[in-house]
Amino acid sequence: MKISCIGLTKIFFLLSVSLSLVFYLLIPWWQYGLPKPHLLLACNLTCTNSYREPLLEETRNPQQGHNQSDLFQEWESYSVDAESFQSIELKDGLHVRQPLQIEDLFIAVKTTKKYHRSRLDLLLQTWISQAKSQTFIFTDWEDKELRQQVGSQMVNTNCTAVHTRQALCCKMAVEYDKFVQSAKKWFCHLDDDNYLNVRTLLELLSAFPHSADVYVGRPSLDHPVETVDRVKGDGSATLKFWFATGGAGFCISRGLALKMSPWASMGNFISTAEKVRLPDDCTIGYIIEGMLEVKMQHSNLFHSHLENLQRLPLNSLLQQVTLSYGGPENRRNVVRIAGYLSLEQDPTRFKSVHCLLYPETQWCPNRKPPSSMT
Ligand SMILES: *[C@@H]1O[C@H](CO)[C@@H](O)[C@H](O)[C@H]1NC(C)=O
Ligand SMILES: *[C@@H]1O[C@H](CO)[C@@H](O)[C@H](O)[C@H]1NC(C)=O
Ligand SMILES: *[C@@H]1O[C@H](CO)[C@@H](O)[C@H](O)[C@H]1NC(C)=O
Repeated sequence: MKISCIGLTKIFFLLSVSLSLVFYLLIPWWQYGLPKPHLLLACNLTCTNSYREPLLEETRNPQQGHNQSDLFQEWESYSVDAESFQSIELKDGLHVRQPLQIEDLFIAVKTTKKYHRSRLDLLLQTWISQAKSQTFIFTDWEDKELRQQVGSQMVNTNCTAVHTRQALCCKMAVEYDKFVQSAKKWFCHLDDDNYLNVRTLLELLSAFPHSADVYVGRPSLDHPVETVDRVKGDGSATLKFWFATGGAGFCISRGLALKMSPWASMGNFISTAEKVRLPDDCTIGYIIEGMLEVKMQHSNLFHSHLENLQRLPLNSLLQQVTLSYGGPENRRNVVRIAGYLSLEQDPTRFKSVHCLLYPETQWCPNRKPPSSMT
């Protein structure tokens, strides 16, 4: 009797030990291993201008805001006016409009090997010719022809030419470091399918002091991105932030760029982007709005190929800061402009825009544009 009782106690003892062992092993799994509700890892769906299918404005926001006439009014009423921007805290409390020279700009154009001829040549022929020493071309291939054309303005990033988040972030990291090394007041990032109106860019930026914290561009969505805070916190809190779509171009003041350094300089940009698992433009917004708590200045003067560019009214076309075009998948998504050059001669309309802005350009047709639209 006694023996079996001891045996029973032993069995109970062993059972409870193994049960607590099982529970002990379960705890960490229970705490950390359970799939947490995925708080909008929105960025692989929404942030990137690059691997998202080109969508037009109306299909992106079917319910909210922005119906056609809203958009039209928005664009028509657009002027380069500091009043429409959020107030920026200044050290002396004064908002002084400072004259800005083209020499104060650092313009980064992101491209890749396969677009050197098809996209970059057009930019070199048009707007880059007006900002030769301010524009740096960030690419992934040592192109001898391009090197001859632009010399040290071409930067071989040594990033891989594949179109992945990592490769794009790699280029942004090199752009950032190169800007910080320069003594320029403003960093502007553009894609190789953007037309930049250098005059309106200068006008826009002169509304802000470069020593203040300024991040200006076009919001990619009509709501902020919400993501898990993986950098500051333990991953339990979420962070809401706006970001400027890289495909439309954006600018950052030197003052702000320097503050971004802990997350952006010397390869830190790549590790930040890896931590938050966001594309390059989205990571910029994450650092500025999320980490530094600086508000982005929303501007509709920047345009990417994701918008319906045909809707841009002719009378405000030359007041925009950037333009774009749809590319081979969406050839018809180009700005409508009175025909200096036919659609065959100028499928992207960039040459026509350029000839209106700089009629003295040698290759521009030496005649008045017809008044009808093409
Ligand atoms: C986007 O993120 C979600 C959630 O993490 C993931 O399930 C999905 O596979 C991702 N999609 C792409 C295209 O990476
Ligand atoms: C679009 O907006 C205009 C002006 O805000 C409004 O009058 C019109 O009814 C709207 N159209 C639709 C389809 O919502
Ligand atoms: C890329 O590699 C070349 C050759 O090694 C080097 O000269 C250049 O500085 C590198 N570029 C960058 C941005 O590091």
